[in-house]
Amino acid sequence: MPRPPALDASLSPPEPLGKNLLEHWVLDRAITYLNHGHFGACPRAVLDAQTAWRQRLEARPIELLERQRRSLLADARQAVGGFVGADPDDFGFVTNATGGVNAVLRSLKVEGGDELVTTNHVYNAVRKTLHLLARTVGGKVIEVDVPLPVRGPDEIVAAIAGALTDRTRLVVVDHITSSTAVIIPLKRIIDLCSERGIDVLVDGAHAPGMVDLDVAALGAAYYTGNLHKWVCAPKGAAFLWVRPDRQAGIHPNTISHFLDQGLAEEFQWQGTRDITAWLCARDSIEFMGQFGWDNVRRHNHALAVWAQATLSRRWEVPAATPADGSMLGSMASVPVPEAVRRHFPDAAAVQSRLLDQYRIEVPVIDWSDRWWVRVSCQVYNEPGQYERLAEAVMELAAQ
Ligand SMILES: Cc1ncc(COP(=O)(O)O)c(C=O)c1O
Repeated sequence: MPRPPALDASLSPPEPLGKNLLEHWVLDRAITYLNHGHFGACPRAVLDAQTAWRQRLEARPIELLERQRRSLLADARQAVGGFVGADPDDFGFVTNATGGVNAVLRSLKVEGGDELVTTNHVYNAVRKTLHLLARTVGGKVIEVDVPLPVRGPDEIVAAIAGALTDRTRLVVVDHITSSTAVIIPLKRIIDLCSERGIDVLVDGAHAPGMVDLDVAALGAAYYTGNLHKWVCAPKGAAFLWVRPDRQAGIHPNTISHFLDQGLAEEFQWQGTRDITAWLCARDSIEFMGQFGWDNVRRHNHALAVWAQATLSRRWEVPAATPADGSMLGSMASVPVPEAVRRHFPDAAAVQSRLLDQYRIEVPVIDWSDRWWVRVSCQVYNEPGQYERLAEAVMELAAQ
């Protein structure tokens, strides 16, 4: 196998936060897992906590789901609110960010001439929800183009600013984009929109645990975030925060007994369901907190910046964002070399080959005419895994 070019001495991978941290996860050891961002991955200790909650629930269902539900979830909201910078009364639990976005969009009273502005990086499920809203209720979806590679935050702010009109009703923007892993200059966009009286809905699916979050200080009208991705909570843990002046108009996707009794009450009872992922929010915040949350974010970010540099240098391609990492969290997107495309019908086939032949699980995404490998960096990942990926893709290019 050819040796990769020597790394820039000024950029080395971060020191691990401990020895053999993968031991804490149940991830299949036969797979090099570089896709934490897709569905998160829940540590064993948090899964054990969830099992204990489930046993308690099934032992006395009425006690837990009726008598104790409010106080148990109040404690979970306290933990989450402290972690994301939100008053516990200003958000409701949802199952995922998709549900949070849907609750907002499907509560809005949009009219025919209204414009709903987003970018071409929008998560596809959110795009579809916007189009359904436009089709059934009214409004027009406007997608502004933010080409890659992006050179800096100004380009994104300018693209959105250029799309705002007197008819703009809502701007829907990711905090960290999904396929392209770009951190959006959120505060600048929210401030720009506020000056013009335009509400912003933030899809923060990846943000909690990846970036230091102060949701209330951002000042958006709506912010939804997942806990099951970078906070490592069990699947089905997410929240929707709504600015107090907008709370009366927002309702969950399933209306149940507690309509109009406040966001938290209304959202946390949408009919019978397993609430244990929410009950484990505190466990997951504390589990990852044992490494120090600042350390976790710093480590994952430094690994992503290093991985971006390593892959783009080895593949001789420009990465999606500036090399200094200023627009990265703990994921990075790098296009595969053009030579790879000659051997595969589509990006999905490259992804399958990386898994089948090299046992590397990493998404390869067809976005704006290029095939992007999006790597995730979590505390259990190691630099050698990205070097293996770099070489595997070079072999696919040379076959
Ligand atoms: C920007 C963005 N929004 C929404 C989602 C959907 O998250 P969930 O499936 O938890 O709703 C994702 C998932 O990766 C995402 O990247």
